Amino acid sequence: MINGHGGNIYRLAGQLGCRPEEISDMSANVNPLGPIPALVDHLKMEIQAIASLPEVDAGKVIRSFSRFYDVEPKQVMAGNGTTELIYIIPRAIRSARALVVEPTYADYQDACKMNRIPFDHLFCKKENNFVPDMDAIEKAASKVDLVFICNPNNPTGAMVSRSDLESLCISLPGTLFVIDESYLPFAPVPAAVTMMGTDLSNVIVLNSMSKAFRVPGLRIGFIKTSEVLLEKLASYALPWSVNSLAQKAVEWLMTHPGQVNPFLENTRAFITSEKSRFKKSLENKTRVRCFPSVTSFLLLGLPNGLNAHTVWQTMATNRILIRDCANFNGLSDKFIRISLKSEKENSRAADLLIQLCQNHTSTGDNHAR
Ligand SMILES: Cc1ncc(COP(=O)(O)O)c(C=O)c1O
Repeated sequence: MINGHGGNIYRLAGQLGCRPEEISDMSANVNPLGPIPALVDHLKMEIQAIASLPEVDAGKVIRSFSRFYDVEPKQVMAGNGTTELIYIIPRAIRSARALVVEPTYADYQDACKMNRIPFDHLFCKKENNFVPDMDAIEKAASKVDLVFICNPNNPTGAMVSRSDLESLCISLPGTLFVIDESYLPFAPVPAAVTMMGTDLSNVIVLNSMSKAFRVPGLRIGFIKTSEVLLEKLASYALPWSVNSLAQKAVEWLMTHPGQVNPFLENTRAFITSEKSRFKKSLENKTRVRCFPSVTSFLLLGLPNGLNAHTVWQTMATNRILIRDCANFNGLSDKFIRISLKSEKENSRAADLLIQLCQNHTSTGDNHAR
């Protein structure tokens, strides 16, 4: 539960004998443009908040979040990042058997393991660019009472439409669907895909502040679901799990649309142009396969002759941290994930990868397609 994530710049800095800030962290999927400078200034001004206990259930923050998303506060719960909420769900629901749509974020299965809940995997196929097969999900989901779907998905960047998700949830009213929308703000039109506004009583939506606003150190995420389910989940909430500064940050984010909306629009525009530039440079000069992604990160399939550990090592030596995807269920040491950062950092990573491919890859049609 503690291992198996990206973002461990502290360990790499220790190994390289440098400071964590000197590492370009392309393993953590956070907004390349964030955090919003005005938010940071606001938190500096509010630093005295740490001298008092935060509101025990983050009630004010929940009300701001509910107003922003036009949902009832009784349908919303806040947690210490969506991570805390992911671990609460299987326990509170007392699920008999769960399904995890893979390859995906490991904490869904870890949350099941921690709560001793058996689970099945359903693997999305490389041939389909890892886009989920909704018929296959429906079939597998009919045998369980809890399903985890990450939309858009980490680490593939693939996304399912809202109408497909709604049809799935409607077809199995006795199954609970957890839709993790942590990366949805990076997708081109989040409002067209989000399940936040659904009235379906068998849907739990997860919403993280960490990724879109680049505040993973603050630890704040939300659940939106039916009032009945929320009551069950809330009985497992810990007091003060959302700290004072995190509460100040969300208050600010939910009440400054004039700064937040343009920031998110600029983020989406930047991601689109950098993704296309990064993909083009790799695809022109290597046989690396870039899987289509609606997010700020890209799953890359490596050519034969190159494995994820070698690429990770070379990048690490150059103070770039990427995600070796060998430990994702359904992937292997032929995959890495790179989260785009500044133009300069992206170019440097692409150049290194191109160099590696040219040094390691034998000729012939031996790519990871
Ligand atoms: C798909 C997904 N969901 C949730 C999380 C947890 O985010 P947080 O606890 O910071 O909200 C992550 C973190 O990497 C993630 O990739």
